[in-house]
This record gives sequence, structure tokens and C-alpha cells, in this order.
Amino acid sequence: MATISEGNRQAGERMRAHHRAMLDAVRARVGALSADGSTWTAARDALVAHVEAEVLPHARAEEATVYERARDYPHLRGLVDAMVREHGAIASLTGALAAARSPADALRIAGGIEQVFAVHAGIENDVMLPALEADPAVDLGAVLEDMHAVADGDVDLDVGAIPHAQRHRIILGLVERLRPGQALVITVDHDPLPLRRQIEAIHGDGLRWTYRARGPRLWRIAIRRPASRS
Ligand SMILES: [Fe+2]
Ligand SMILES: [Fe+2]
Repeated sequence: MATISEGNRQAGERMRAHHRAMLDAVRARVGALSADGSTWTAARDALVAHVEAEVLPHARAEEATVYERARDYPHLRGLVDAMVREHGAIASLTGALAAARSPADALRIAGGIEQVFAVHAGIENDVMLPALEADPAVDLGAVLEDMHAVADGDVDLDVGAIPHAQRHRIILGLVERLRPGQALVITVDHDPLPLRRQIEAIHGDGLRWTYRARGPRLWRIAIRRPASRS
């Protein structure tokens, strides 16, 4: 078995711990629903609010980062597609739970959410993360940092929509205004190395350049201003 770098091992553990915490929180709310029939609507609404505030944003953020990286491995692409559909299943079950009109219905749907989420997180922990952890070309810590930043309002820019003569000026203006932790994510039809050199000449280590996709048709690059660390 490949040796796992210390950085990747720690990042993998952080992700697994986060999954455990989210699953515990979902279980506690499903438990509240089954424990008290008289206040079932409040318990239903608390579970819906929790999934919408914590679980679904996590899912969206990992689709844009961890899952995108996992698609680099041909043998994982089918699995990633299935896992995106599971996110969709959790979202639609949550919609059904919000509309549940009896405690029995609510409990049945809530139990479904818990089960799908538990199986899903298990596959992430035991199949997807090990592939990323073991790859010396992957900095899993940086991927997770990107994941948390997605929720912080990264800006997407399709460079093809901007006239050639204005591209560098517009991109340099946008990266100038990035907040700490925020990224400009550019999509472009070639590897924009002259732009990279220009940004590095101006900002040095103040901006980090991370490839999310490297061709052959599209390149996606996150240009991030690192969050200040205490
Ligand atoms: Fe997921
Ligand atoms: Fe996850």
C-alpha cells in the first residue's frame, strides 16, 4: 500500500471527523422526532433546517472541490456520479420531510435521510478519501481548504466570454479585490501560464494558484487569497 503523507492523513481525518459530527447531529434530530410525538412538527422543522444549513452546503462544496478532484481517477468517475445523485436524493427527501403531514410519515422519511447519509458518508470515508490521501500529487489539505471557501462566496469567471485584449486587465482587477479566503475561479480553454506569471510577479505568495481541471479542453483554476491564520 502506498505511504500516506502526514498532511494528507490529517486532512483525511478532519474530513472523517466532520462526517461523524454531521451524522451524529442528524441522528440526534431524528431521535427527537421519534421520542416526542406531541411536538413532531417542531422536530421535523429542526431536522429540515439542520440538513439545509449544514449537510446540503457541505454536499455542494465538496462537489465543486473533493469530487472534482476524485474525477481525475477514471475508476472513480462512475462512483462520483452516483454520489452526486445521492446528494440529490438527500435534498429531495428533505423537501418531502418538510411537506410531511403526519408524525408517521415524517419519521419514515427522516429515517431514510439518516440511512442514505450514513451509507453515503461511509463511501466517502472508505473509498473516495483513501484514493486522494494515497496520491502524492494531491494536497488534500488544500482541497479541503478550497471546499470550505466555496461556501464563502468564491467568484466564477468564464474567461472565454471576455474579449482577448481585456482579459488580463479584468482578471487582475478581480483578484485585487478578493477577500482573505476567497477565490476567483477561472475557466479557460488553455493553460494560462502568462497570466500566472503576471499574477505571481504582482502578488507573490499573496495569491495561491490551484488547478481544478487541467485540460484537454478546459482548464479551471482557483486563484485564492489565503485566509489569514491565527
Ligand atoms: Fe457527499
Ligand atoms: Fe462529505
